[in-house]
Order: sequence, then structure tokens, then C-alpha cells
Amino acid sequence: MTLFSTIVDEVFLYVRERLEELREENLVRELPPPFSEYNVSRGTFRDGGREREVIIFCSNDYLGMTKDKEVLEEMVRAILRMGGGAGASRLVSGNFRYHEEFEDFIRGFFGLKEKQKDVLIFNSGWSANVGVISALCDDNSEIFSDELNHASIIDGIRLSKAKKSIFRHTDLDHLESLLRGSSAKFKLVISDAVFSMDGDLAPLDKIKFLCEKYGAALYVDEAHAFGLFGRGGRGLSDWIGIEPDILLFTLSKSVGLFGACVIAPQYVIRFLRSRARSFIFATALPPFILAGAKKSIQIIERAEDKRRKVFDNSRFLKLKLAEAFGEDEYIRRSIYSQITPFVIGDEVSALEISRLLLERGFFVQAIRYPSVPRGTSRLRITVSSEHSQEEIEILVENLKEVSKNVPRGTLFENRN
Ligand SMILES: Cc1ncc(COP(=O)(O)O)c(C=O)c1O
Repeated sequence: MTLFSTIVDEVFLYVRERLEELREENLVRELPPPFSEYNVSRGTFRDGGREREVIIFCSNDYLGMTKDKEVLEEMVRAILRMGGGAGASRLVSGNFRYHEEFEDFIRGFFGLKEKQKDVLIFNSGWSANVGVISALCDDNSEIFSDELNHASIIDGIRLSKAKKSIFRHTDLDHLESLLRGSSAKFKLVISDAVFSMDGDLAPLDKIKFLCEKYGAALYVDEAHAFGLFGRGGRGLSDWIGIEPDILLFTLSKSVGLFGACVIAPQYVIRFLRSRARSFIFATALPPFILAGAKKSIQIIERAEDKRRKVFDNSRFLKLKLAEAFGEDEYIRRSIYSQITPFVIGDEVSALEISRLLLERGFFVQAIRYPSVPRGTSRLRITVSSEHSQEEIEILVENLKEVSKNVPRGTLFENRN
């Protein structure tokens, strides 16, 4: 036993040193307490032997679809009929009626056939970004990516052999100067639609214009926009009125389940089926997920009241924060979305404010580097259609109280 642990310690000495570095930088991540009950805006977990209910302000379950009864019933029917898993990749024996029906439904939802486009299901937004970007881009390609794009886009770029050109956040002049200087055979501009940690919107119409001007394809990740923006929740591109060459949306946020879809020209989808490694070499999503996702999107399409409630709640939160702490550029820039970055600055203060809020019954996770740039640690506050304005009001009151006793980072000091 002693001998074994000594060997392990020596073998992993380097990892332990790096873990220690993370600890010194306050960047070690710990799992929050697990929920024993969950109901979209409220969760219960065990705390020192007793059950405690908290109000959740950091989930992406924006429309409460994780608990929708019709969706759950649809999934139960499918699970009883088809079982719990797909058993293999779709290219082997994991292709079920539900996968095909779902893709057909999405073809109709976005009118893809008329546009000679098609759709492909991936197991998650993460595996879609990594698989698609690395499959499409080789050493004759150049990728132009917003500096605040999601980590899965960054990893897709790293896995590809393409030249990477990172443009300053939503900076069109910078993007244009990079495009102008490129002689790559294949140029791909990639942007989140709604930026996941900042809650601001990409200027997709202007980016599309630059893509057309310089012969680049546009790839838009609609993870946080699908379900909320556009006609029937079709996303920010639909809302703005542009057509990206490649559009990704996830089933994990507003849809309330798991998985993702990529929409692209038919021949691109055919190419991805043969080359996207995260599609080829992974067991397909369980069929019941697609049964639920179809029902969820059908419900979301008609859920105008819920969408309005999300945006009303979000504006109310931003207003209350501005009253309590003064308006800052982060609140201003996120005004149109359901995501509100409450930037604190240093990691220790962000963690401490989050911990104190949890003690008072509000679950708002602290977000640190590398999820956000260093020195901009924050609470990423999200609202759903299931929150009430009273809940939001008491969150802000409590935030004001707890932040009085916490040493603040430089950014935070600058707010007042
Ligand atoms: C912009 C963006 N893209 C992709 C993903 C990954 O999606 P998923 O959680 O479905 O893997 C996320 C989620 O965190 C995201 O915010």
C-alpha cells in the first residue's frame, strides 16, 4: 500500500506541482453541492445533514424545458420502446428512426430542402464545434475567430491544421484587416451569436457582409440564442435576417436536453459524415433524447410568452443592478440578452461573493479564467422564464449586502 502510493506520487509529481500552481492562482475548480431536487429556478441540496432550497441564477435552462411534462412523457415512451442507448455510432448500428425523424423535423423547421442545405446531429455542442471545425479546416485554410468565442471553438481550431487569426471581440475593422491579408484557399469566420460569458450579441449582419466581400464562409454558434431569439426561437441569425453558411445550435440550453445540430450546405454535411471524427467515432445520442428534443422545439416555437418573460426578467435584473451598483459597460453591452456578467475582477472576491450568496440561498456560480480573461472574474447571472421579479429583486439586495464585506478587485472598485 505504502509502496504503491509512493510510486503514484512520484509518477504524478509534475501534475501535483501544476495543481499547486492552480491553487496558488485560486483557479482550482470544485464541484458545487449536488441537487437532490431540481425545478429550473429552484434546487435543493444537502448541507450539513439538512436539505436546503436555493434559487438558481446560473443555469442555461432558460425556458424551463428540462422539466416540461409533455417532453418528459415523449421521452418515456421512446425509452420504453427503444431502450436507453443507441449502442453504436450512427454509421454502425446506432441510427434509429428517432434520429432520422428529428433531422427531418429540423429540415422542415428551417426550410432546408429549398436552400439545398442539410442538418447533422452531434452528441453535444462541444463535440459539434470540435468535430466540424477540425474536419473542415486543413493547412490550406485560415480561421478568423472572435477572441471571446467558446472554448469548444478554440479547441476545434487547435485540432485543425489551419492558420488561426483571432480578432478582437466584435471588432469589425480588425476582422477586415485580417481577411484582407489572407491568401488561404478556404477562409472560415467563426463567431458565437450570443457570447456565453458576456451576454452581448455578435454583429452578424456586418460580419456576413465582410465574409461576402472577402470570400469567406461564416460559421455561427447559436448555443445561447436558439430558442430565445428569432421567429419561433430560430436564433439570432434569423432575428437579424442573415443566413450563415454553417449554423450550430445546441439541444442543451433552451431546449433543455443534450446534443447539438449543425446546418450547412448538403455537400458539407455529406463531407462531415465522412470526416467529422466526433460524429464518426462516438456512440450516437440515445434515441429518446431526439424524441424529447423534437417535442421541446415544437413547444418552444409557440412559447412567445415564455420568451418575453425571460427578456423582461433580464432587463429587470440589469436595471436593479445598475441602480444598486451603477451602470457599467458589461451591463450595457449585455442589454439584449438573458445573460448578465456582474464583473468583480479578482478570483478570490468572486468566489467569496458567490459563497456568501449561496449561504443566503442564491446559487450564482463564480466564473474565472480560463472561462473569462484574467482579472475579469465574475458572477454570470442568468434568468429563466420561471424566475419572478421578486426573486430577482431579493437577489440584488443580497448581492449588495454581501459585497460590502468583501475586498474588491480593481474593476469592481471602478464601478462606484
Ligand atoms: C457558445 C457555446 N458553444 C458550445 C457550447 C457547448 O455546448 P454543450 O454544452 O452542448 O456541449 C457552449 C456551452 O457551454 C456554448 O456556450
